[in-house]
Amino acid sequence: MSADDASKPGATPPPGATPPAGAAQPERVAEAASRSAEPVDPVAAEAALRELERELAAGAEERPEAPPTPALGSATAPAPMPVTPAKATAERTPAAVTGGAPIMKPLAPAAPTPVVVFDKVTKSYGSFTAIKDVSFRIDDHPGRGEMVPILGPSGCGKSTVIRMIAGLSPQFPQTSGTVLVDGKVIKGPGSDRGMVFQDYTSFDNRSVLDNVAFGLECRGVARAERLDRARLWISKVGLSIKKDADKYPSELSGGMRQRVAIARTLVLEPRIILMDEPFGALDPPTRARMQDLLIGLWREQSPTVFFITHSVEEAVYLGDHVLIFSSSPGTILKEIKIPPPDRPSNAMQRDPAFLETVYGIKDVIEKLESSQRGGD
Ligand SMILES: Nc1ncnc2c1ncn2[C@@H]1O[C@H](COP(=O)(O)OP(=O)(O)OP(=O)(O)O)[C@@H](O)[C@H]1O
Ligand SMILES: [Mg+2]
Repeated sequence: MSADDASKPGATPPPGATPPAGAAQPERVAEAASRSAEPVDPVAAEAALRELERELAAGAEERPEAPPTPALGSATAPAPMPVTPAKATAERTPAAVTGGAPIMKPLAPAAPTPVVVFDKVTKSYGSFTAIKDVSFRIDDHPGRGEMVPILGPSGCGKSTVIRMIAGLSPQFPQTSGTVLVDGKVIKGPGSDRGMVFQDYTSFDNRSVLDNVAFGLECRGVARAERLDRARLWISKVGLSIKKDADKYPSELSGGMRQRVAIARTLVLEPRIILMDEPFGALDPPTRARMQDLLIGLWREQSPTVFFITHSVEEAVYLGDHVLIFSSSPGTILKEIKIPPPDRPSNAMQRDPAFLETVYGIKDVIEKLESSQRGGD
């Protein structure tokens, strides 16, 4: 059972109320962590807690199904195809909107050791193969980081890939092939990697402030310091310390809850951020604002960001290094390099060059789909 699935909202007590038995677990783990000499890894702790919450919530009402997402392809094998992502690399002039300064810095030369390498990675569950021979390399660009949007049809193995990088079971470990992070074989979750799950993963029984401070608590950071850092991040993601910090997740809108989820991960300043369809459930204006927020925070922290999305527009806006996956068993169909955004999402998405790139990629996906359907 995945941690993604385990974020079913539970009962939310009002501030000051006694949390339900299962929901008390985060504090217990954090307390244990603060007593322990070995810091607890927040991603692993959270995954375990969500599993526990899920078990405790068993029997409760099932979460409604997400609306169906449009399939991108039905390919079963890589289909090399010359792609010119329609002037995808055309210049995006840093126009008046940005006052002449591009929003993202240009890519610096890559360091010798890549951040993440997949070499012929396959994951099978019994006789079912979820991903097959997946190979890619994401270079390390110190002081800049790289954005890696991942596109692909539902069930093609996108979550499998990023959960494997996070070191979360059962996707980790792979059945065969090699996964390297910073040149090393990973052994499980680590503080160098932070995950933002698809659902608004916050603890219902914790305030915004305590949610954002959770990972620091797991690391044994002293209370005053962790609350200070949590407050800083609450404001960085555009929430109000005064009005929002003491609220509980059920008192927030979807966009606000996702801001909390992002703050919870970024407060730990991971070098690699793994985002699994983080904006999928947001309305378009909120989504555009969140994209801009992400770009701003990315610029500040320079991490490598893996970002799963079903939206070609979102992938093109975020830019850099897009990975397109085929349907099950997932494999990489195409890697496309795209210049990073140079203006806010709304302005960018009206730009003819931007639209040309989007339609170029949609065409590529369509061609790949039909060539796969035709058995090429
Ligand atoms: N623990 C598991 N046991 C068996 N099969 C699994 C397990 N986890 C994932 N799968 C299967 O692996 C395949 C890839 O799943 P994954 O969650 O990575 O897809 P995805 O591309 O993220 O899909 P979506 O876009 O719908 O989120 C799916 O067919 C899924 O059913
Ligand atoms: Mg998924």
